[in-house]
Amino acid sequence: MSTPHNNANKGDIAETVLMPGDPLRAKFIAENYLENPVCYNNVRNMLGFTGTYKGVPVSVQGSGMGMPSIAIYSHELYNEYDVSNIIRIGTAGAVADSVNLRDIVIAMSASTNSAYANQYNLPGTYAPTASWKLLSVAVKMAEKNNCSYHVGNILSSDTFYDDFDSLAKWHKMGVLAIEMESAALYMNAARAGKNALCILTVSDCPFRNLSTTAEERQSSFRTMMEIALDTALEISK
Ligand code: HPA
Repeated sequence: MSTPHNNANKGDIAETVLMPGDPLRAKFIAENYLENPVCYNNVRNMLGFTGTYKGVPVSVQGSGMGMPSIAIYSHELYNEYDVSNIIRIGTAGAVADSVNLRDIVIAMSASTNSAYANQYNLPGTYAPTASWKLLSVAVKMAEKNNCSYHVGNILSSDTFYDDFDSLAKWHKMGVLAIEMESAALYMNAARAGKNALCILTVSDCPFRNLSTTAEERQSSFRTMMEIALDTALEISK
């Protein structure tokens, strides 16, 4: 069995999948954190691996950038491969004044300027929300990790290069950070009756014109990866 975007067989993918945007980051996690990783997907180079973390099966697969891309891969994982939990691990720009470079943001909810929810034809505004099961455990793991973290609402935007500067308006509403994937992931999880969480590392501050160096990104990414892996381990117990 395979899908148009994934040539894994059923059973190749673990119940919990970590999803970085970049497939090479998926490879990095597989090679540095998983025992006996096996690559299950190479369609479009959107690499996916399954191994074990401290003995527990975990998969890690790239999502690509933006809501259409993560929506395709997460839809197939939830609906074709019986995946129960997806934990996105990605980067974000700081929006709230309290959020600094390299901080961790755990997305309790994801506002969006995308029309992704239109497909559900809801008679109102949907609020894309993280799974409490994953959120509550991830917060405990972040606490244990002693890192600087925030939990709250983020913005999933359809644009990275925005012609109109709308960020000040989202800032007024207390949005913590901006990225491009979480709202669609949360909606796919809800529609499939599954679990999702997004854990983000702040890689830039659009308001303060700051960004992290490649080296800094690497070490703060490690914190985020470890929180996600420890969450995967804890929920398997
Ligand atoms: N905007 C959108 N997505 C992002 C950003 C940003 O500033 N930083 C990291 N992902």
